[in-house]
Amino acid sequence: MKVLIIGNGGREYAIARRLKNDGCELFVAPGNAGTAKIATNVDIKGFDELATWAKDNEIELCVVGPENALSDGVVDIFKSHGLNIFGPSKAAARLEGSKAFMKEFLARQNIRTARFINTHDKAEANEFIEAIFNGGNRKIVVKADGLCAGKGVIIASSADEAKRAAADMLSGASFGDAGKRVVIEEFLDGFELSFFAICDGKNFVSLPVAQDHKRLKDNDEGPNTGGMGAYAPSMLANAALITRVENEIVRPTLDGMSREGAPFCGVLFVGLMVVGDTPYVLEFNVRFGDPECEVLMPLIEGNFAKTLLNAAQGKLEDIKLAGKFAVGVVMASHNYPYGASRPAQIFVENEPEGSHICYAGVSDDAGKLVASGGRVLVAVGLGTSIEAAQAKAYELVGKISFEGAQWRKDIAYQALRK
Ligand code: AMP
Ligand code: GLY
Repeated sequence: MKVLIIGNGGREYAIARRLKNDGCELFVAPGNAGTAKIATNVDIKGFDELATWAKDNEIELCVVGPENALSDGVVDIFKSHGLNIFGPSKAAARLEGSKAFMKEFLARQNIRTARFINTHDKAEANEFIEAIFNGGNRKIVVKADGLCAGKGVIIASSADEAKRAAADMLSGASFGDAGKRVVIEEFLDGFELSFFAICDGKNFVSLPVAQDHKRLKDNDEGPNTGGMGAYAPSMLANAALITRVENEIVRPTLDGMSREGAPFCGVLFVGLMVVGDTPYVLEFNVRFGDPECEVLMPLIEGNFAKTLLNAAQGKLEDIKLAGKFAVGVVMASHNYPYGASRPAQIFVENEPEGSHICYAGVSDDAGKLVASGGRVLVAVGLGTSIEAAQAKAYELVGKISFEGAQWRKDIAYQALRK
């Protein structure tokens, strides 16, 4: 099958690597210096032009990696050219593109989420903040409405701090237009999981439950990042919890989106907070997570290209999962997440059996592979237990070097602690 993957990160590398297993002929637009080694990169930016290229080149399936392309309507454009594309329409992508839309949708469908208000009015924001703190809560969460690459969320420990964060967002000072509407919500105290369902508009299949590590430093300290590592399946999600997420969140979301005229096809990524044993929706994303995708891809057996094509055509079938575990450790450049770093050549001694690299922020410099982005690569280890997969991932990390490399030493710690 000829497949075009849109995006340029480690997630798209992981999808390409997985689809290569199915014998697909692969194209990645725009891709990175890593995908260039396992697929053909296509340097076309405009979606209309890219769709024309896909038609001319008889692409049978397109898969979209990043949220921005989805929110910008790439799926609608490709469909109008008669192409098969796996991903949500612009209307359905609002589940991620607007936190306000997402929260109002959850409220309409009676799906459990943190108590919230959604407002562009400072006085209303302040009133809600006062009420939450007067109700005995010690923290509150203030979020910019629009896409802020995971950075538009402030967890405030006092009413004053929360009011200041809301005022800065509403004035446009902190996040520009993305913050001119805010969602303010109660703080949920629990553990986070990443739940993925492949959806065809009506039906879904669930993937192994993953856990991300958003903070830069070990023990979940330091600033939030795009994600410093992940593992799956997580034993923090037992069968009962998975059934609740499917019945109380995923099913009503698909039904609700259909009823509201925006059926959801693509990857529904539920950011869960589990409080006690009750799952709450923190956020929806409408695509694979990164670095979750890198650990999920090797856990899927069978013809995954066919699964995605079937989903794109509204006739999803069950998938087969490998009975093993995966741990992925992100290696980031020196100044991540604060700023750019000097490009540094990447050296790889070897990839031990049962491990592999997914390349993300890399480029080619006269034939040398260099670290040029924030999150440079993900070292993925596989095994018959989390311990074994973790050991493999860190064995691989030990074989990789580039100047200024930083990584967490404790990926999967929550799974191993229990
Ligand atoms: P979001 O972009 O909405 O997922 O928020 C980013 C991160 O902020 C989440 O991954 C959580 O760690 C944290 N967070 C967001 N909302 C809440 C909440 N209501 N309670 C506790 N933590 C939250
Ligand atoms: N790892 C979380 C995300 O991709 O948003």
